[in-house]
Amino acid sequence: MANVVTDPKVHPEVIIPDLTKPDPLVTFKKEDIAFVYGTKWKQRYFQKIGDDYFPLGAQWDVSHQIWRAYNVANGTDWWTKFYPQANSARPTGPLCDGCHSVNYNIQTKTVTEWNVGCEKCHGPGSEHVGRPSRANIVNPARLNYVQANNVCIQCHSQGQPLTSPIQGKYYDWPVGFNVGLDLKNFWKLEEHKLGETSFTHFPDGTAHKNRMQGNDFVTSVMYTRGVTCFSCHDVHGTGNNADLLKPASVMCLQCHGPQSPNGPRTPTIEAHTHHQRGSAGDDCIGCHMPKIEQTIADINVRSHTFKFIPPEATETMKIPNSCNTCHTDKTVQWAKDTLKTWPEFSPWRVAQ
Ligand code: HEC
Ligand code: HEC
Ligand code: HEC
Ligand code: HEC
Ligand code: HEC
Ligand code: HEC
Ligand code: HEC
Repeated sequence: MANVVTDPKVHPEVIIPDLTKPDPLVTFKKEDIAFVYGTKWKQRYFQKIGDDYFPLGAQWDVSHQIWRAYNVANGTDWWTKFYPQANSARPTGPLCDGCHSVNYNIQTKTVTEWNVGCEKCHGPGSEHVGRPSRANIVNPARLNYVQANNVCIQCHSQGQPLTSPIQGKYYDWPVGFNVGLDLKNFWKLEEHKLGETSFTHFPDGTAHKNRMQGNDFVTSVMYTRGVTCFSCHDVHGTGNNADLLKPASVMCLQCHGPQSPNGPRTPTIEAHTHHQRGSAGDDCIGCHMPKIEQTIADINVRSHTFKFIPPEATETMKIPNSCNTCHTDKTVQWAKDTLKTWPEFSPWRVAQ
């Protein structure tokens, strides 16, 4: 997993935009930046005031290569009502750092390491380093599926601590949790009422913002069958996008295919996808992981419910569907009419 938090004094090259080019949104200078967060979709900048870090008012949109304002709007994240609106009143300790460091200590505001270090997923390691043994380190692969997925869900989810506030402060991460403990005693996933569009969810319960892979995945049948985040991702790094074990187009076929009891139940893959082998529309993730979860502006990441989202859901619930996410020049009715001609899918589920 890439490093999110970087000190630009040590690594000046981490700052993507050219800060010498004036922009009305940018009211800070290179020297003001104590930390840089992010490289892939968005880059945010932090100043140090006292013993805390605070976000600066502009972020870099990596894909569009433009500046955008950065200030979490009131009435969005659950914690906004407990903090004044100004960035300078929103320290990263309670709001960010539990997920962007190892062993953030809420008393001393210190960390043992910035970014997602080994101990965040393997538990305390000093004993193991002194005397390496399987007995004194957590291997997520040997945990049951709930605990194993929780190793990732501790950070890849939207939720709230069970106890809030903690010593007068509102934290947005599972304070006190360590792998080996039970996440449900520290953290609850963000609630959602079916039918409502909330800050986090579409009306059908699918997430619509980033960092919600955990919220999504626990609703999937795969989760209940013991599949884990690391059945598909190798967080120690791979050559594939998103640290996938295999490129996405072959990944799913490790466990799926016409001969597999896991489905799809058609004689060939093409008979299930109705798109030519090798075309974008034939990729499992095109229909089962549409890019509908916003990370910044119009840049979205993939859903992790693995559900096919039928065109009708766009009409009834105003949620983007699996077909028109690619076929943006076609109508919802076109997608419905097409699906009606694909006999292996139930009309009651995909298009009446
Ligand atoms: C983001 C979570 C995460 C981080 C960070 C992480 N690991 Fe892992 N590690 C895992 C998971 C999950 C597995 C099990 C993967 C599997 O076997 O499918 C694993 C497996 C391993 C294994 C294999 C154990 C075995 O018995 O085969 C070793 C060794 C290991 N990690 C070392 C490290 C070291 C050293 C670091 C730090 C440099 C590190 N890991 C950082 C999640 C993580
Ligand atoms: C301590 C918090 C934390 C934990 C635990 C954690 N992650 Fe992450 N993960 C992050 C952060 C932060 C990023 C963003 C990295 C970046 O953009 O540079 C990330 C990024 C990723 C990415 C995207 C990488 C990319 O290049 O697009 C994947 C995939 C991922 N994590 C999977 C996992 C899996 C699987 C686990 C559990 C084994 C896990 N993570 C555990 C914090 C965490
Ligand atoms: C509950 C854990 C958690 C909290 C709290 C959290 N993050 Fe993250 N952050 C993540 C994970 C996991 C990712 C990667 C996955 C994703 O973005 O969907 C991430 C990604 C990011 C990225 C994008 C990196 C990139 O390369 O594009 C930035 C920037 C970032 N976080 C900044 C922040 C800031 C600022 C805060 C506090 C206001 C914060 N995060 C709070 C877990 C967290
Ligand atoms: C069945 C396989 C599978 C499982 C299980 C899975 N993912 Fe993914 N994940 C993918 C694929 C495929 C992508 C998209 C890669 C691409 O677009 O190239 C992805 C993308 C991501 C990304 C990058 C954001 C994006 O959409 O590009 C993150 C972060 C991530 N997954 C985290 C997780 C976490 C955390 C879990 C468990 C809660 C998890 N994944 C479970 C297959 C899986
Ligand atoms: C490690 C094995 C594994 C991998 C890899 C895997 N799956 Fe699965 N998948 C399963 C299992 C097991 C089931 C449950 C089958 C059953 O019990 O009927 C399942 C079920 C499903 C279902 C049906 C879920 C439902 O709600 O009915 C879909 C859709 C699916 N997988 C899509 C994917 C996609 C897309 C990928 C690639 C990104 C993928 N799977 C990768 C093992 C896997
Ligand atoms: C063009 C869209 C599309 C593509 C691409 C696609 N699927 Fe599906 N898939 C569907 C639809 C539609 C359903 C039925 C959903 C329902 O009934 O709710 C479905 C259902 C499934 C199911 C559950 C039912 C069953 O037949 O077992 C599995 C498993 C599945 N798909 C796996 C895959 C895999 C693996 C791939 C990649 C080889 C893939 N799908 C590619 C549209 C697609
Ligand atoms: C990941 C992108 C993607 C997704 C998702 C997708 N398609 Fe396609 N589709 C394509 C591409 C690319 C082509 C042209 C190449 C080909 O024929 O395979 C195409 C071609 C078609 C065609 C034939 C050409 C035409 O324009 O008349 C139909 C019909 C079609 N798609 C219907 C659907 C339906 C219905 C869904 C949802 C169940 C869907 N597609 C989902 C990418 C996608």
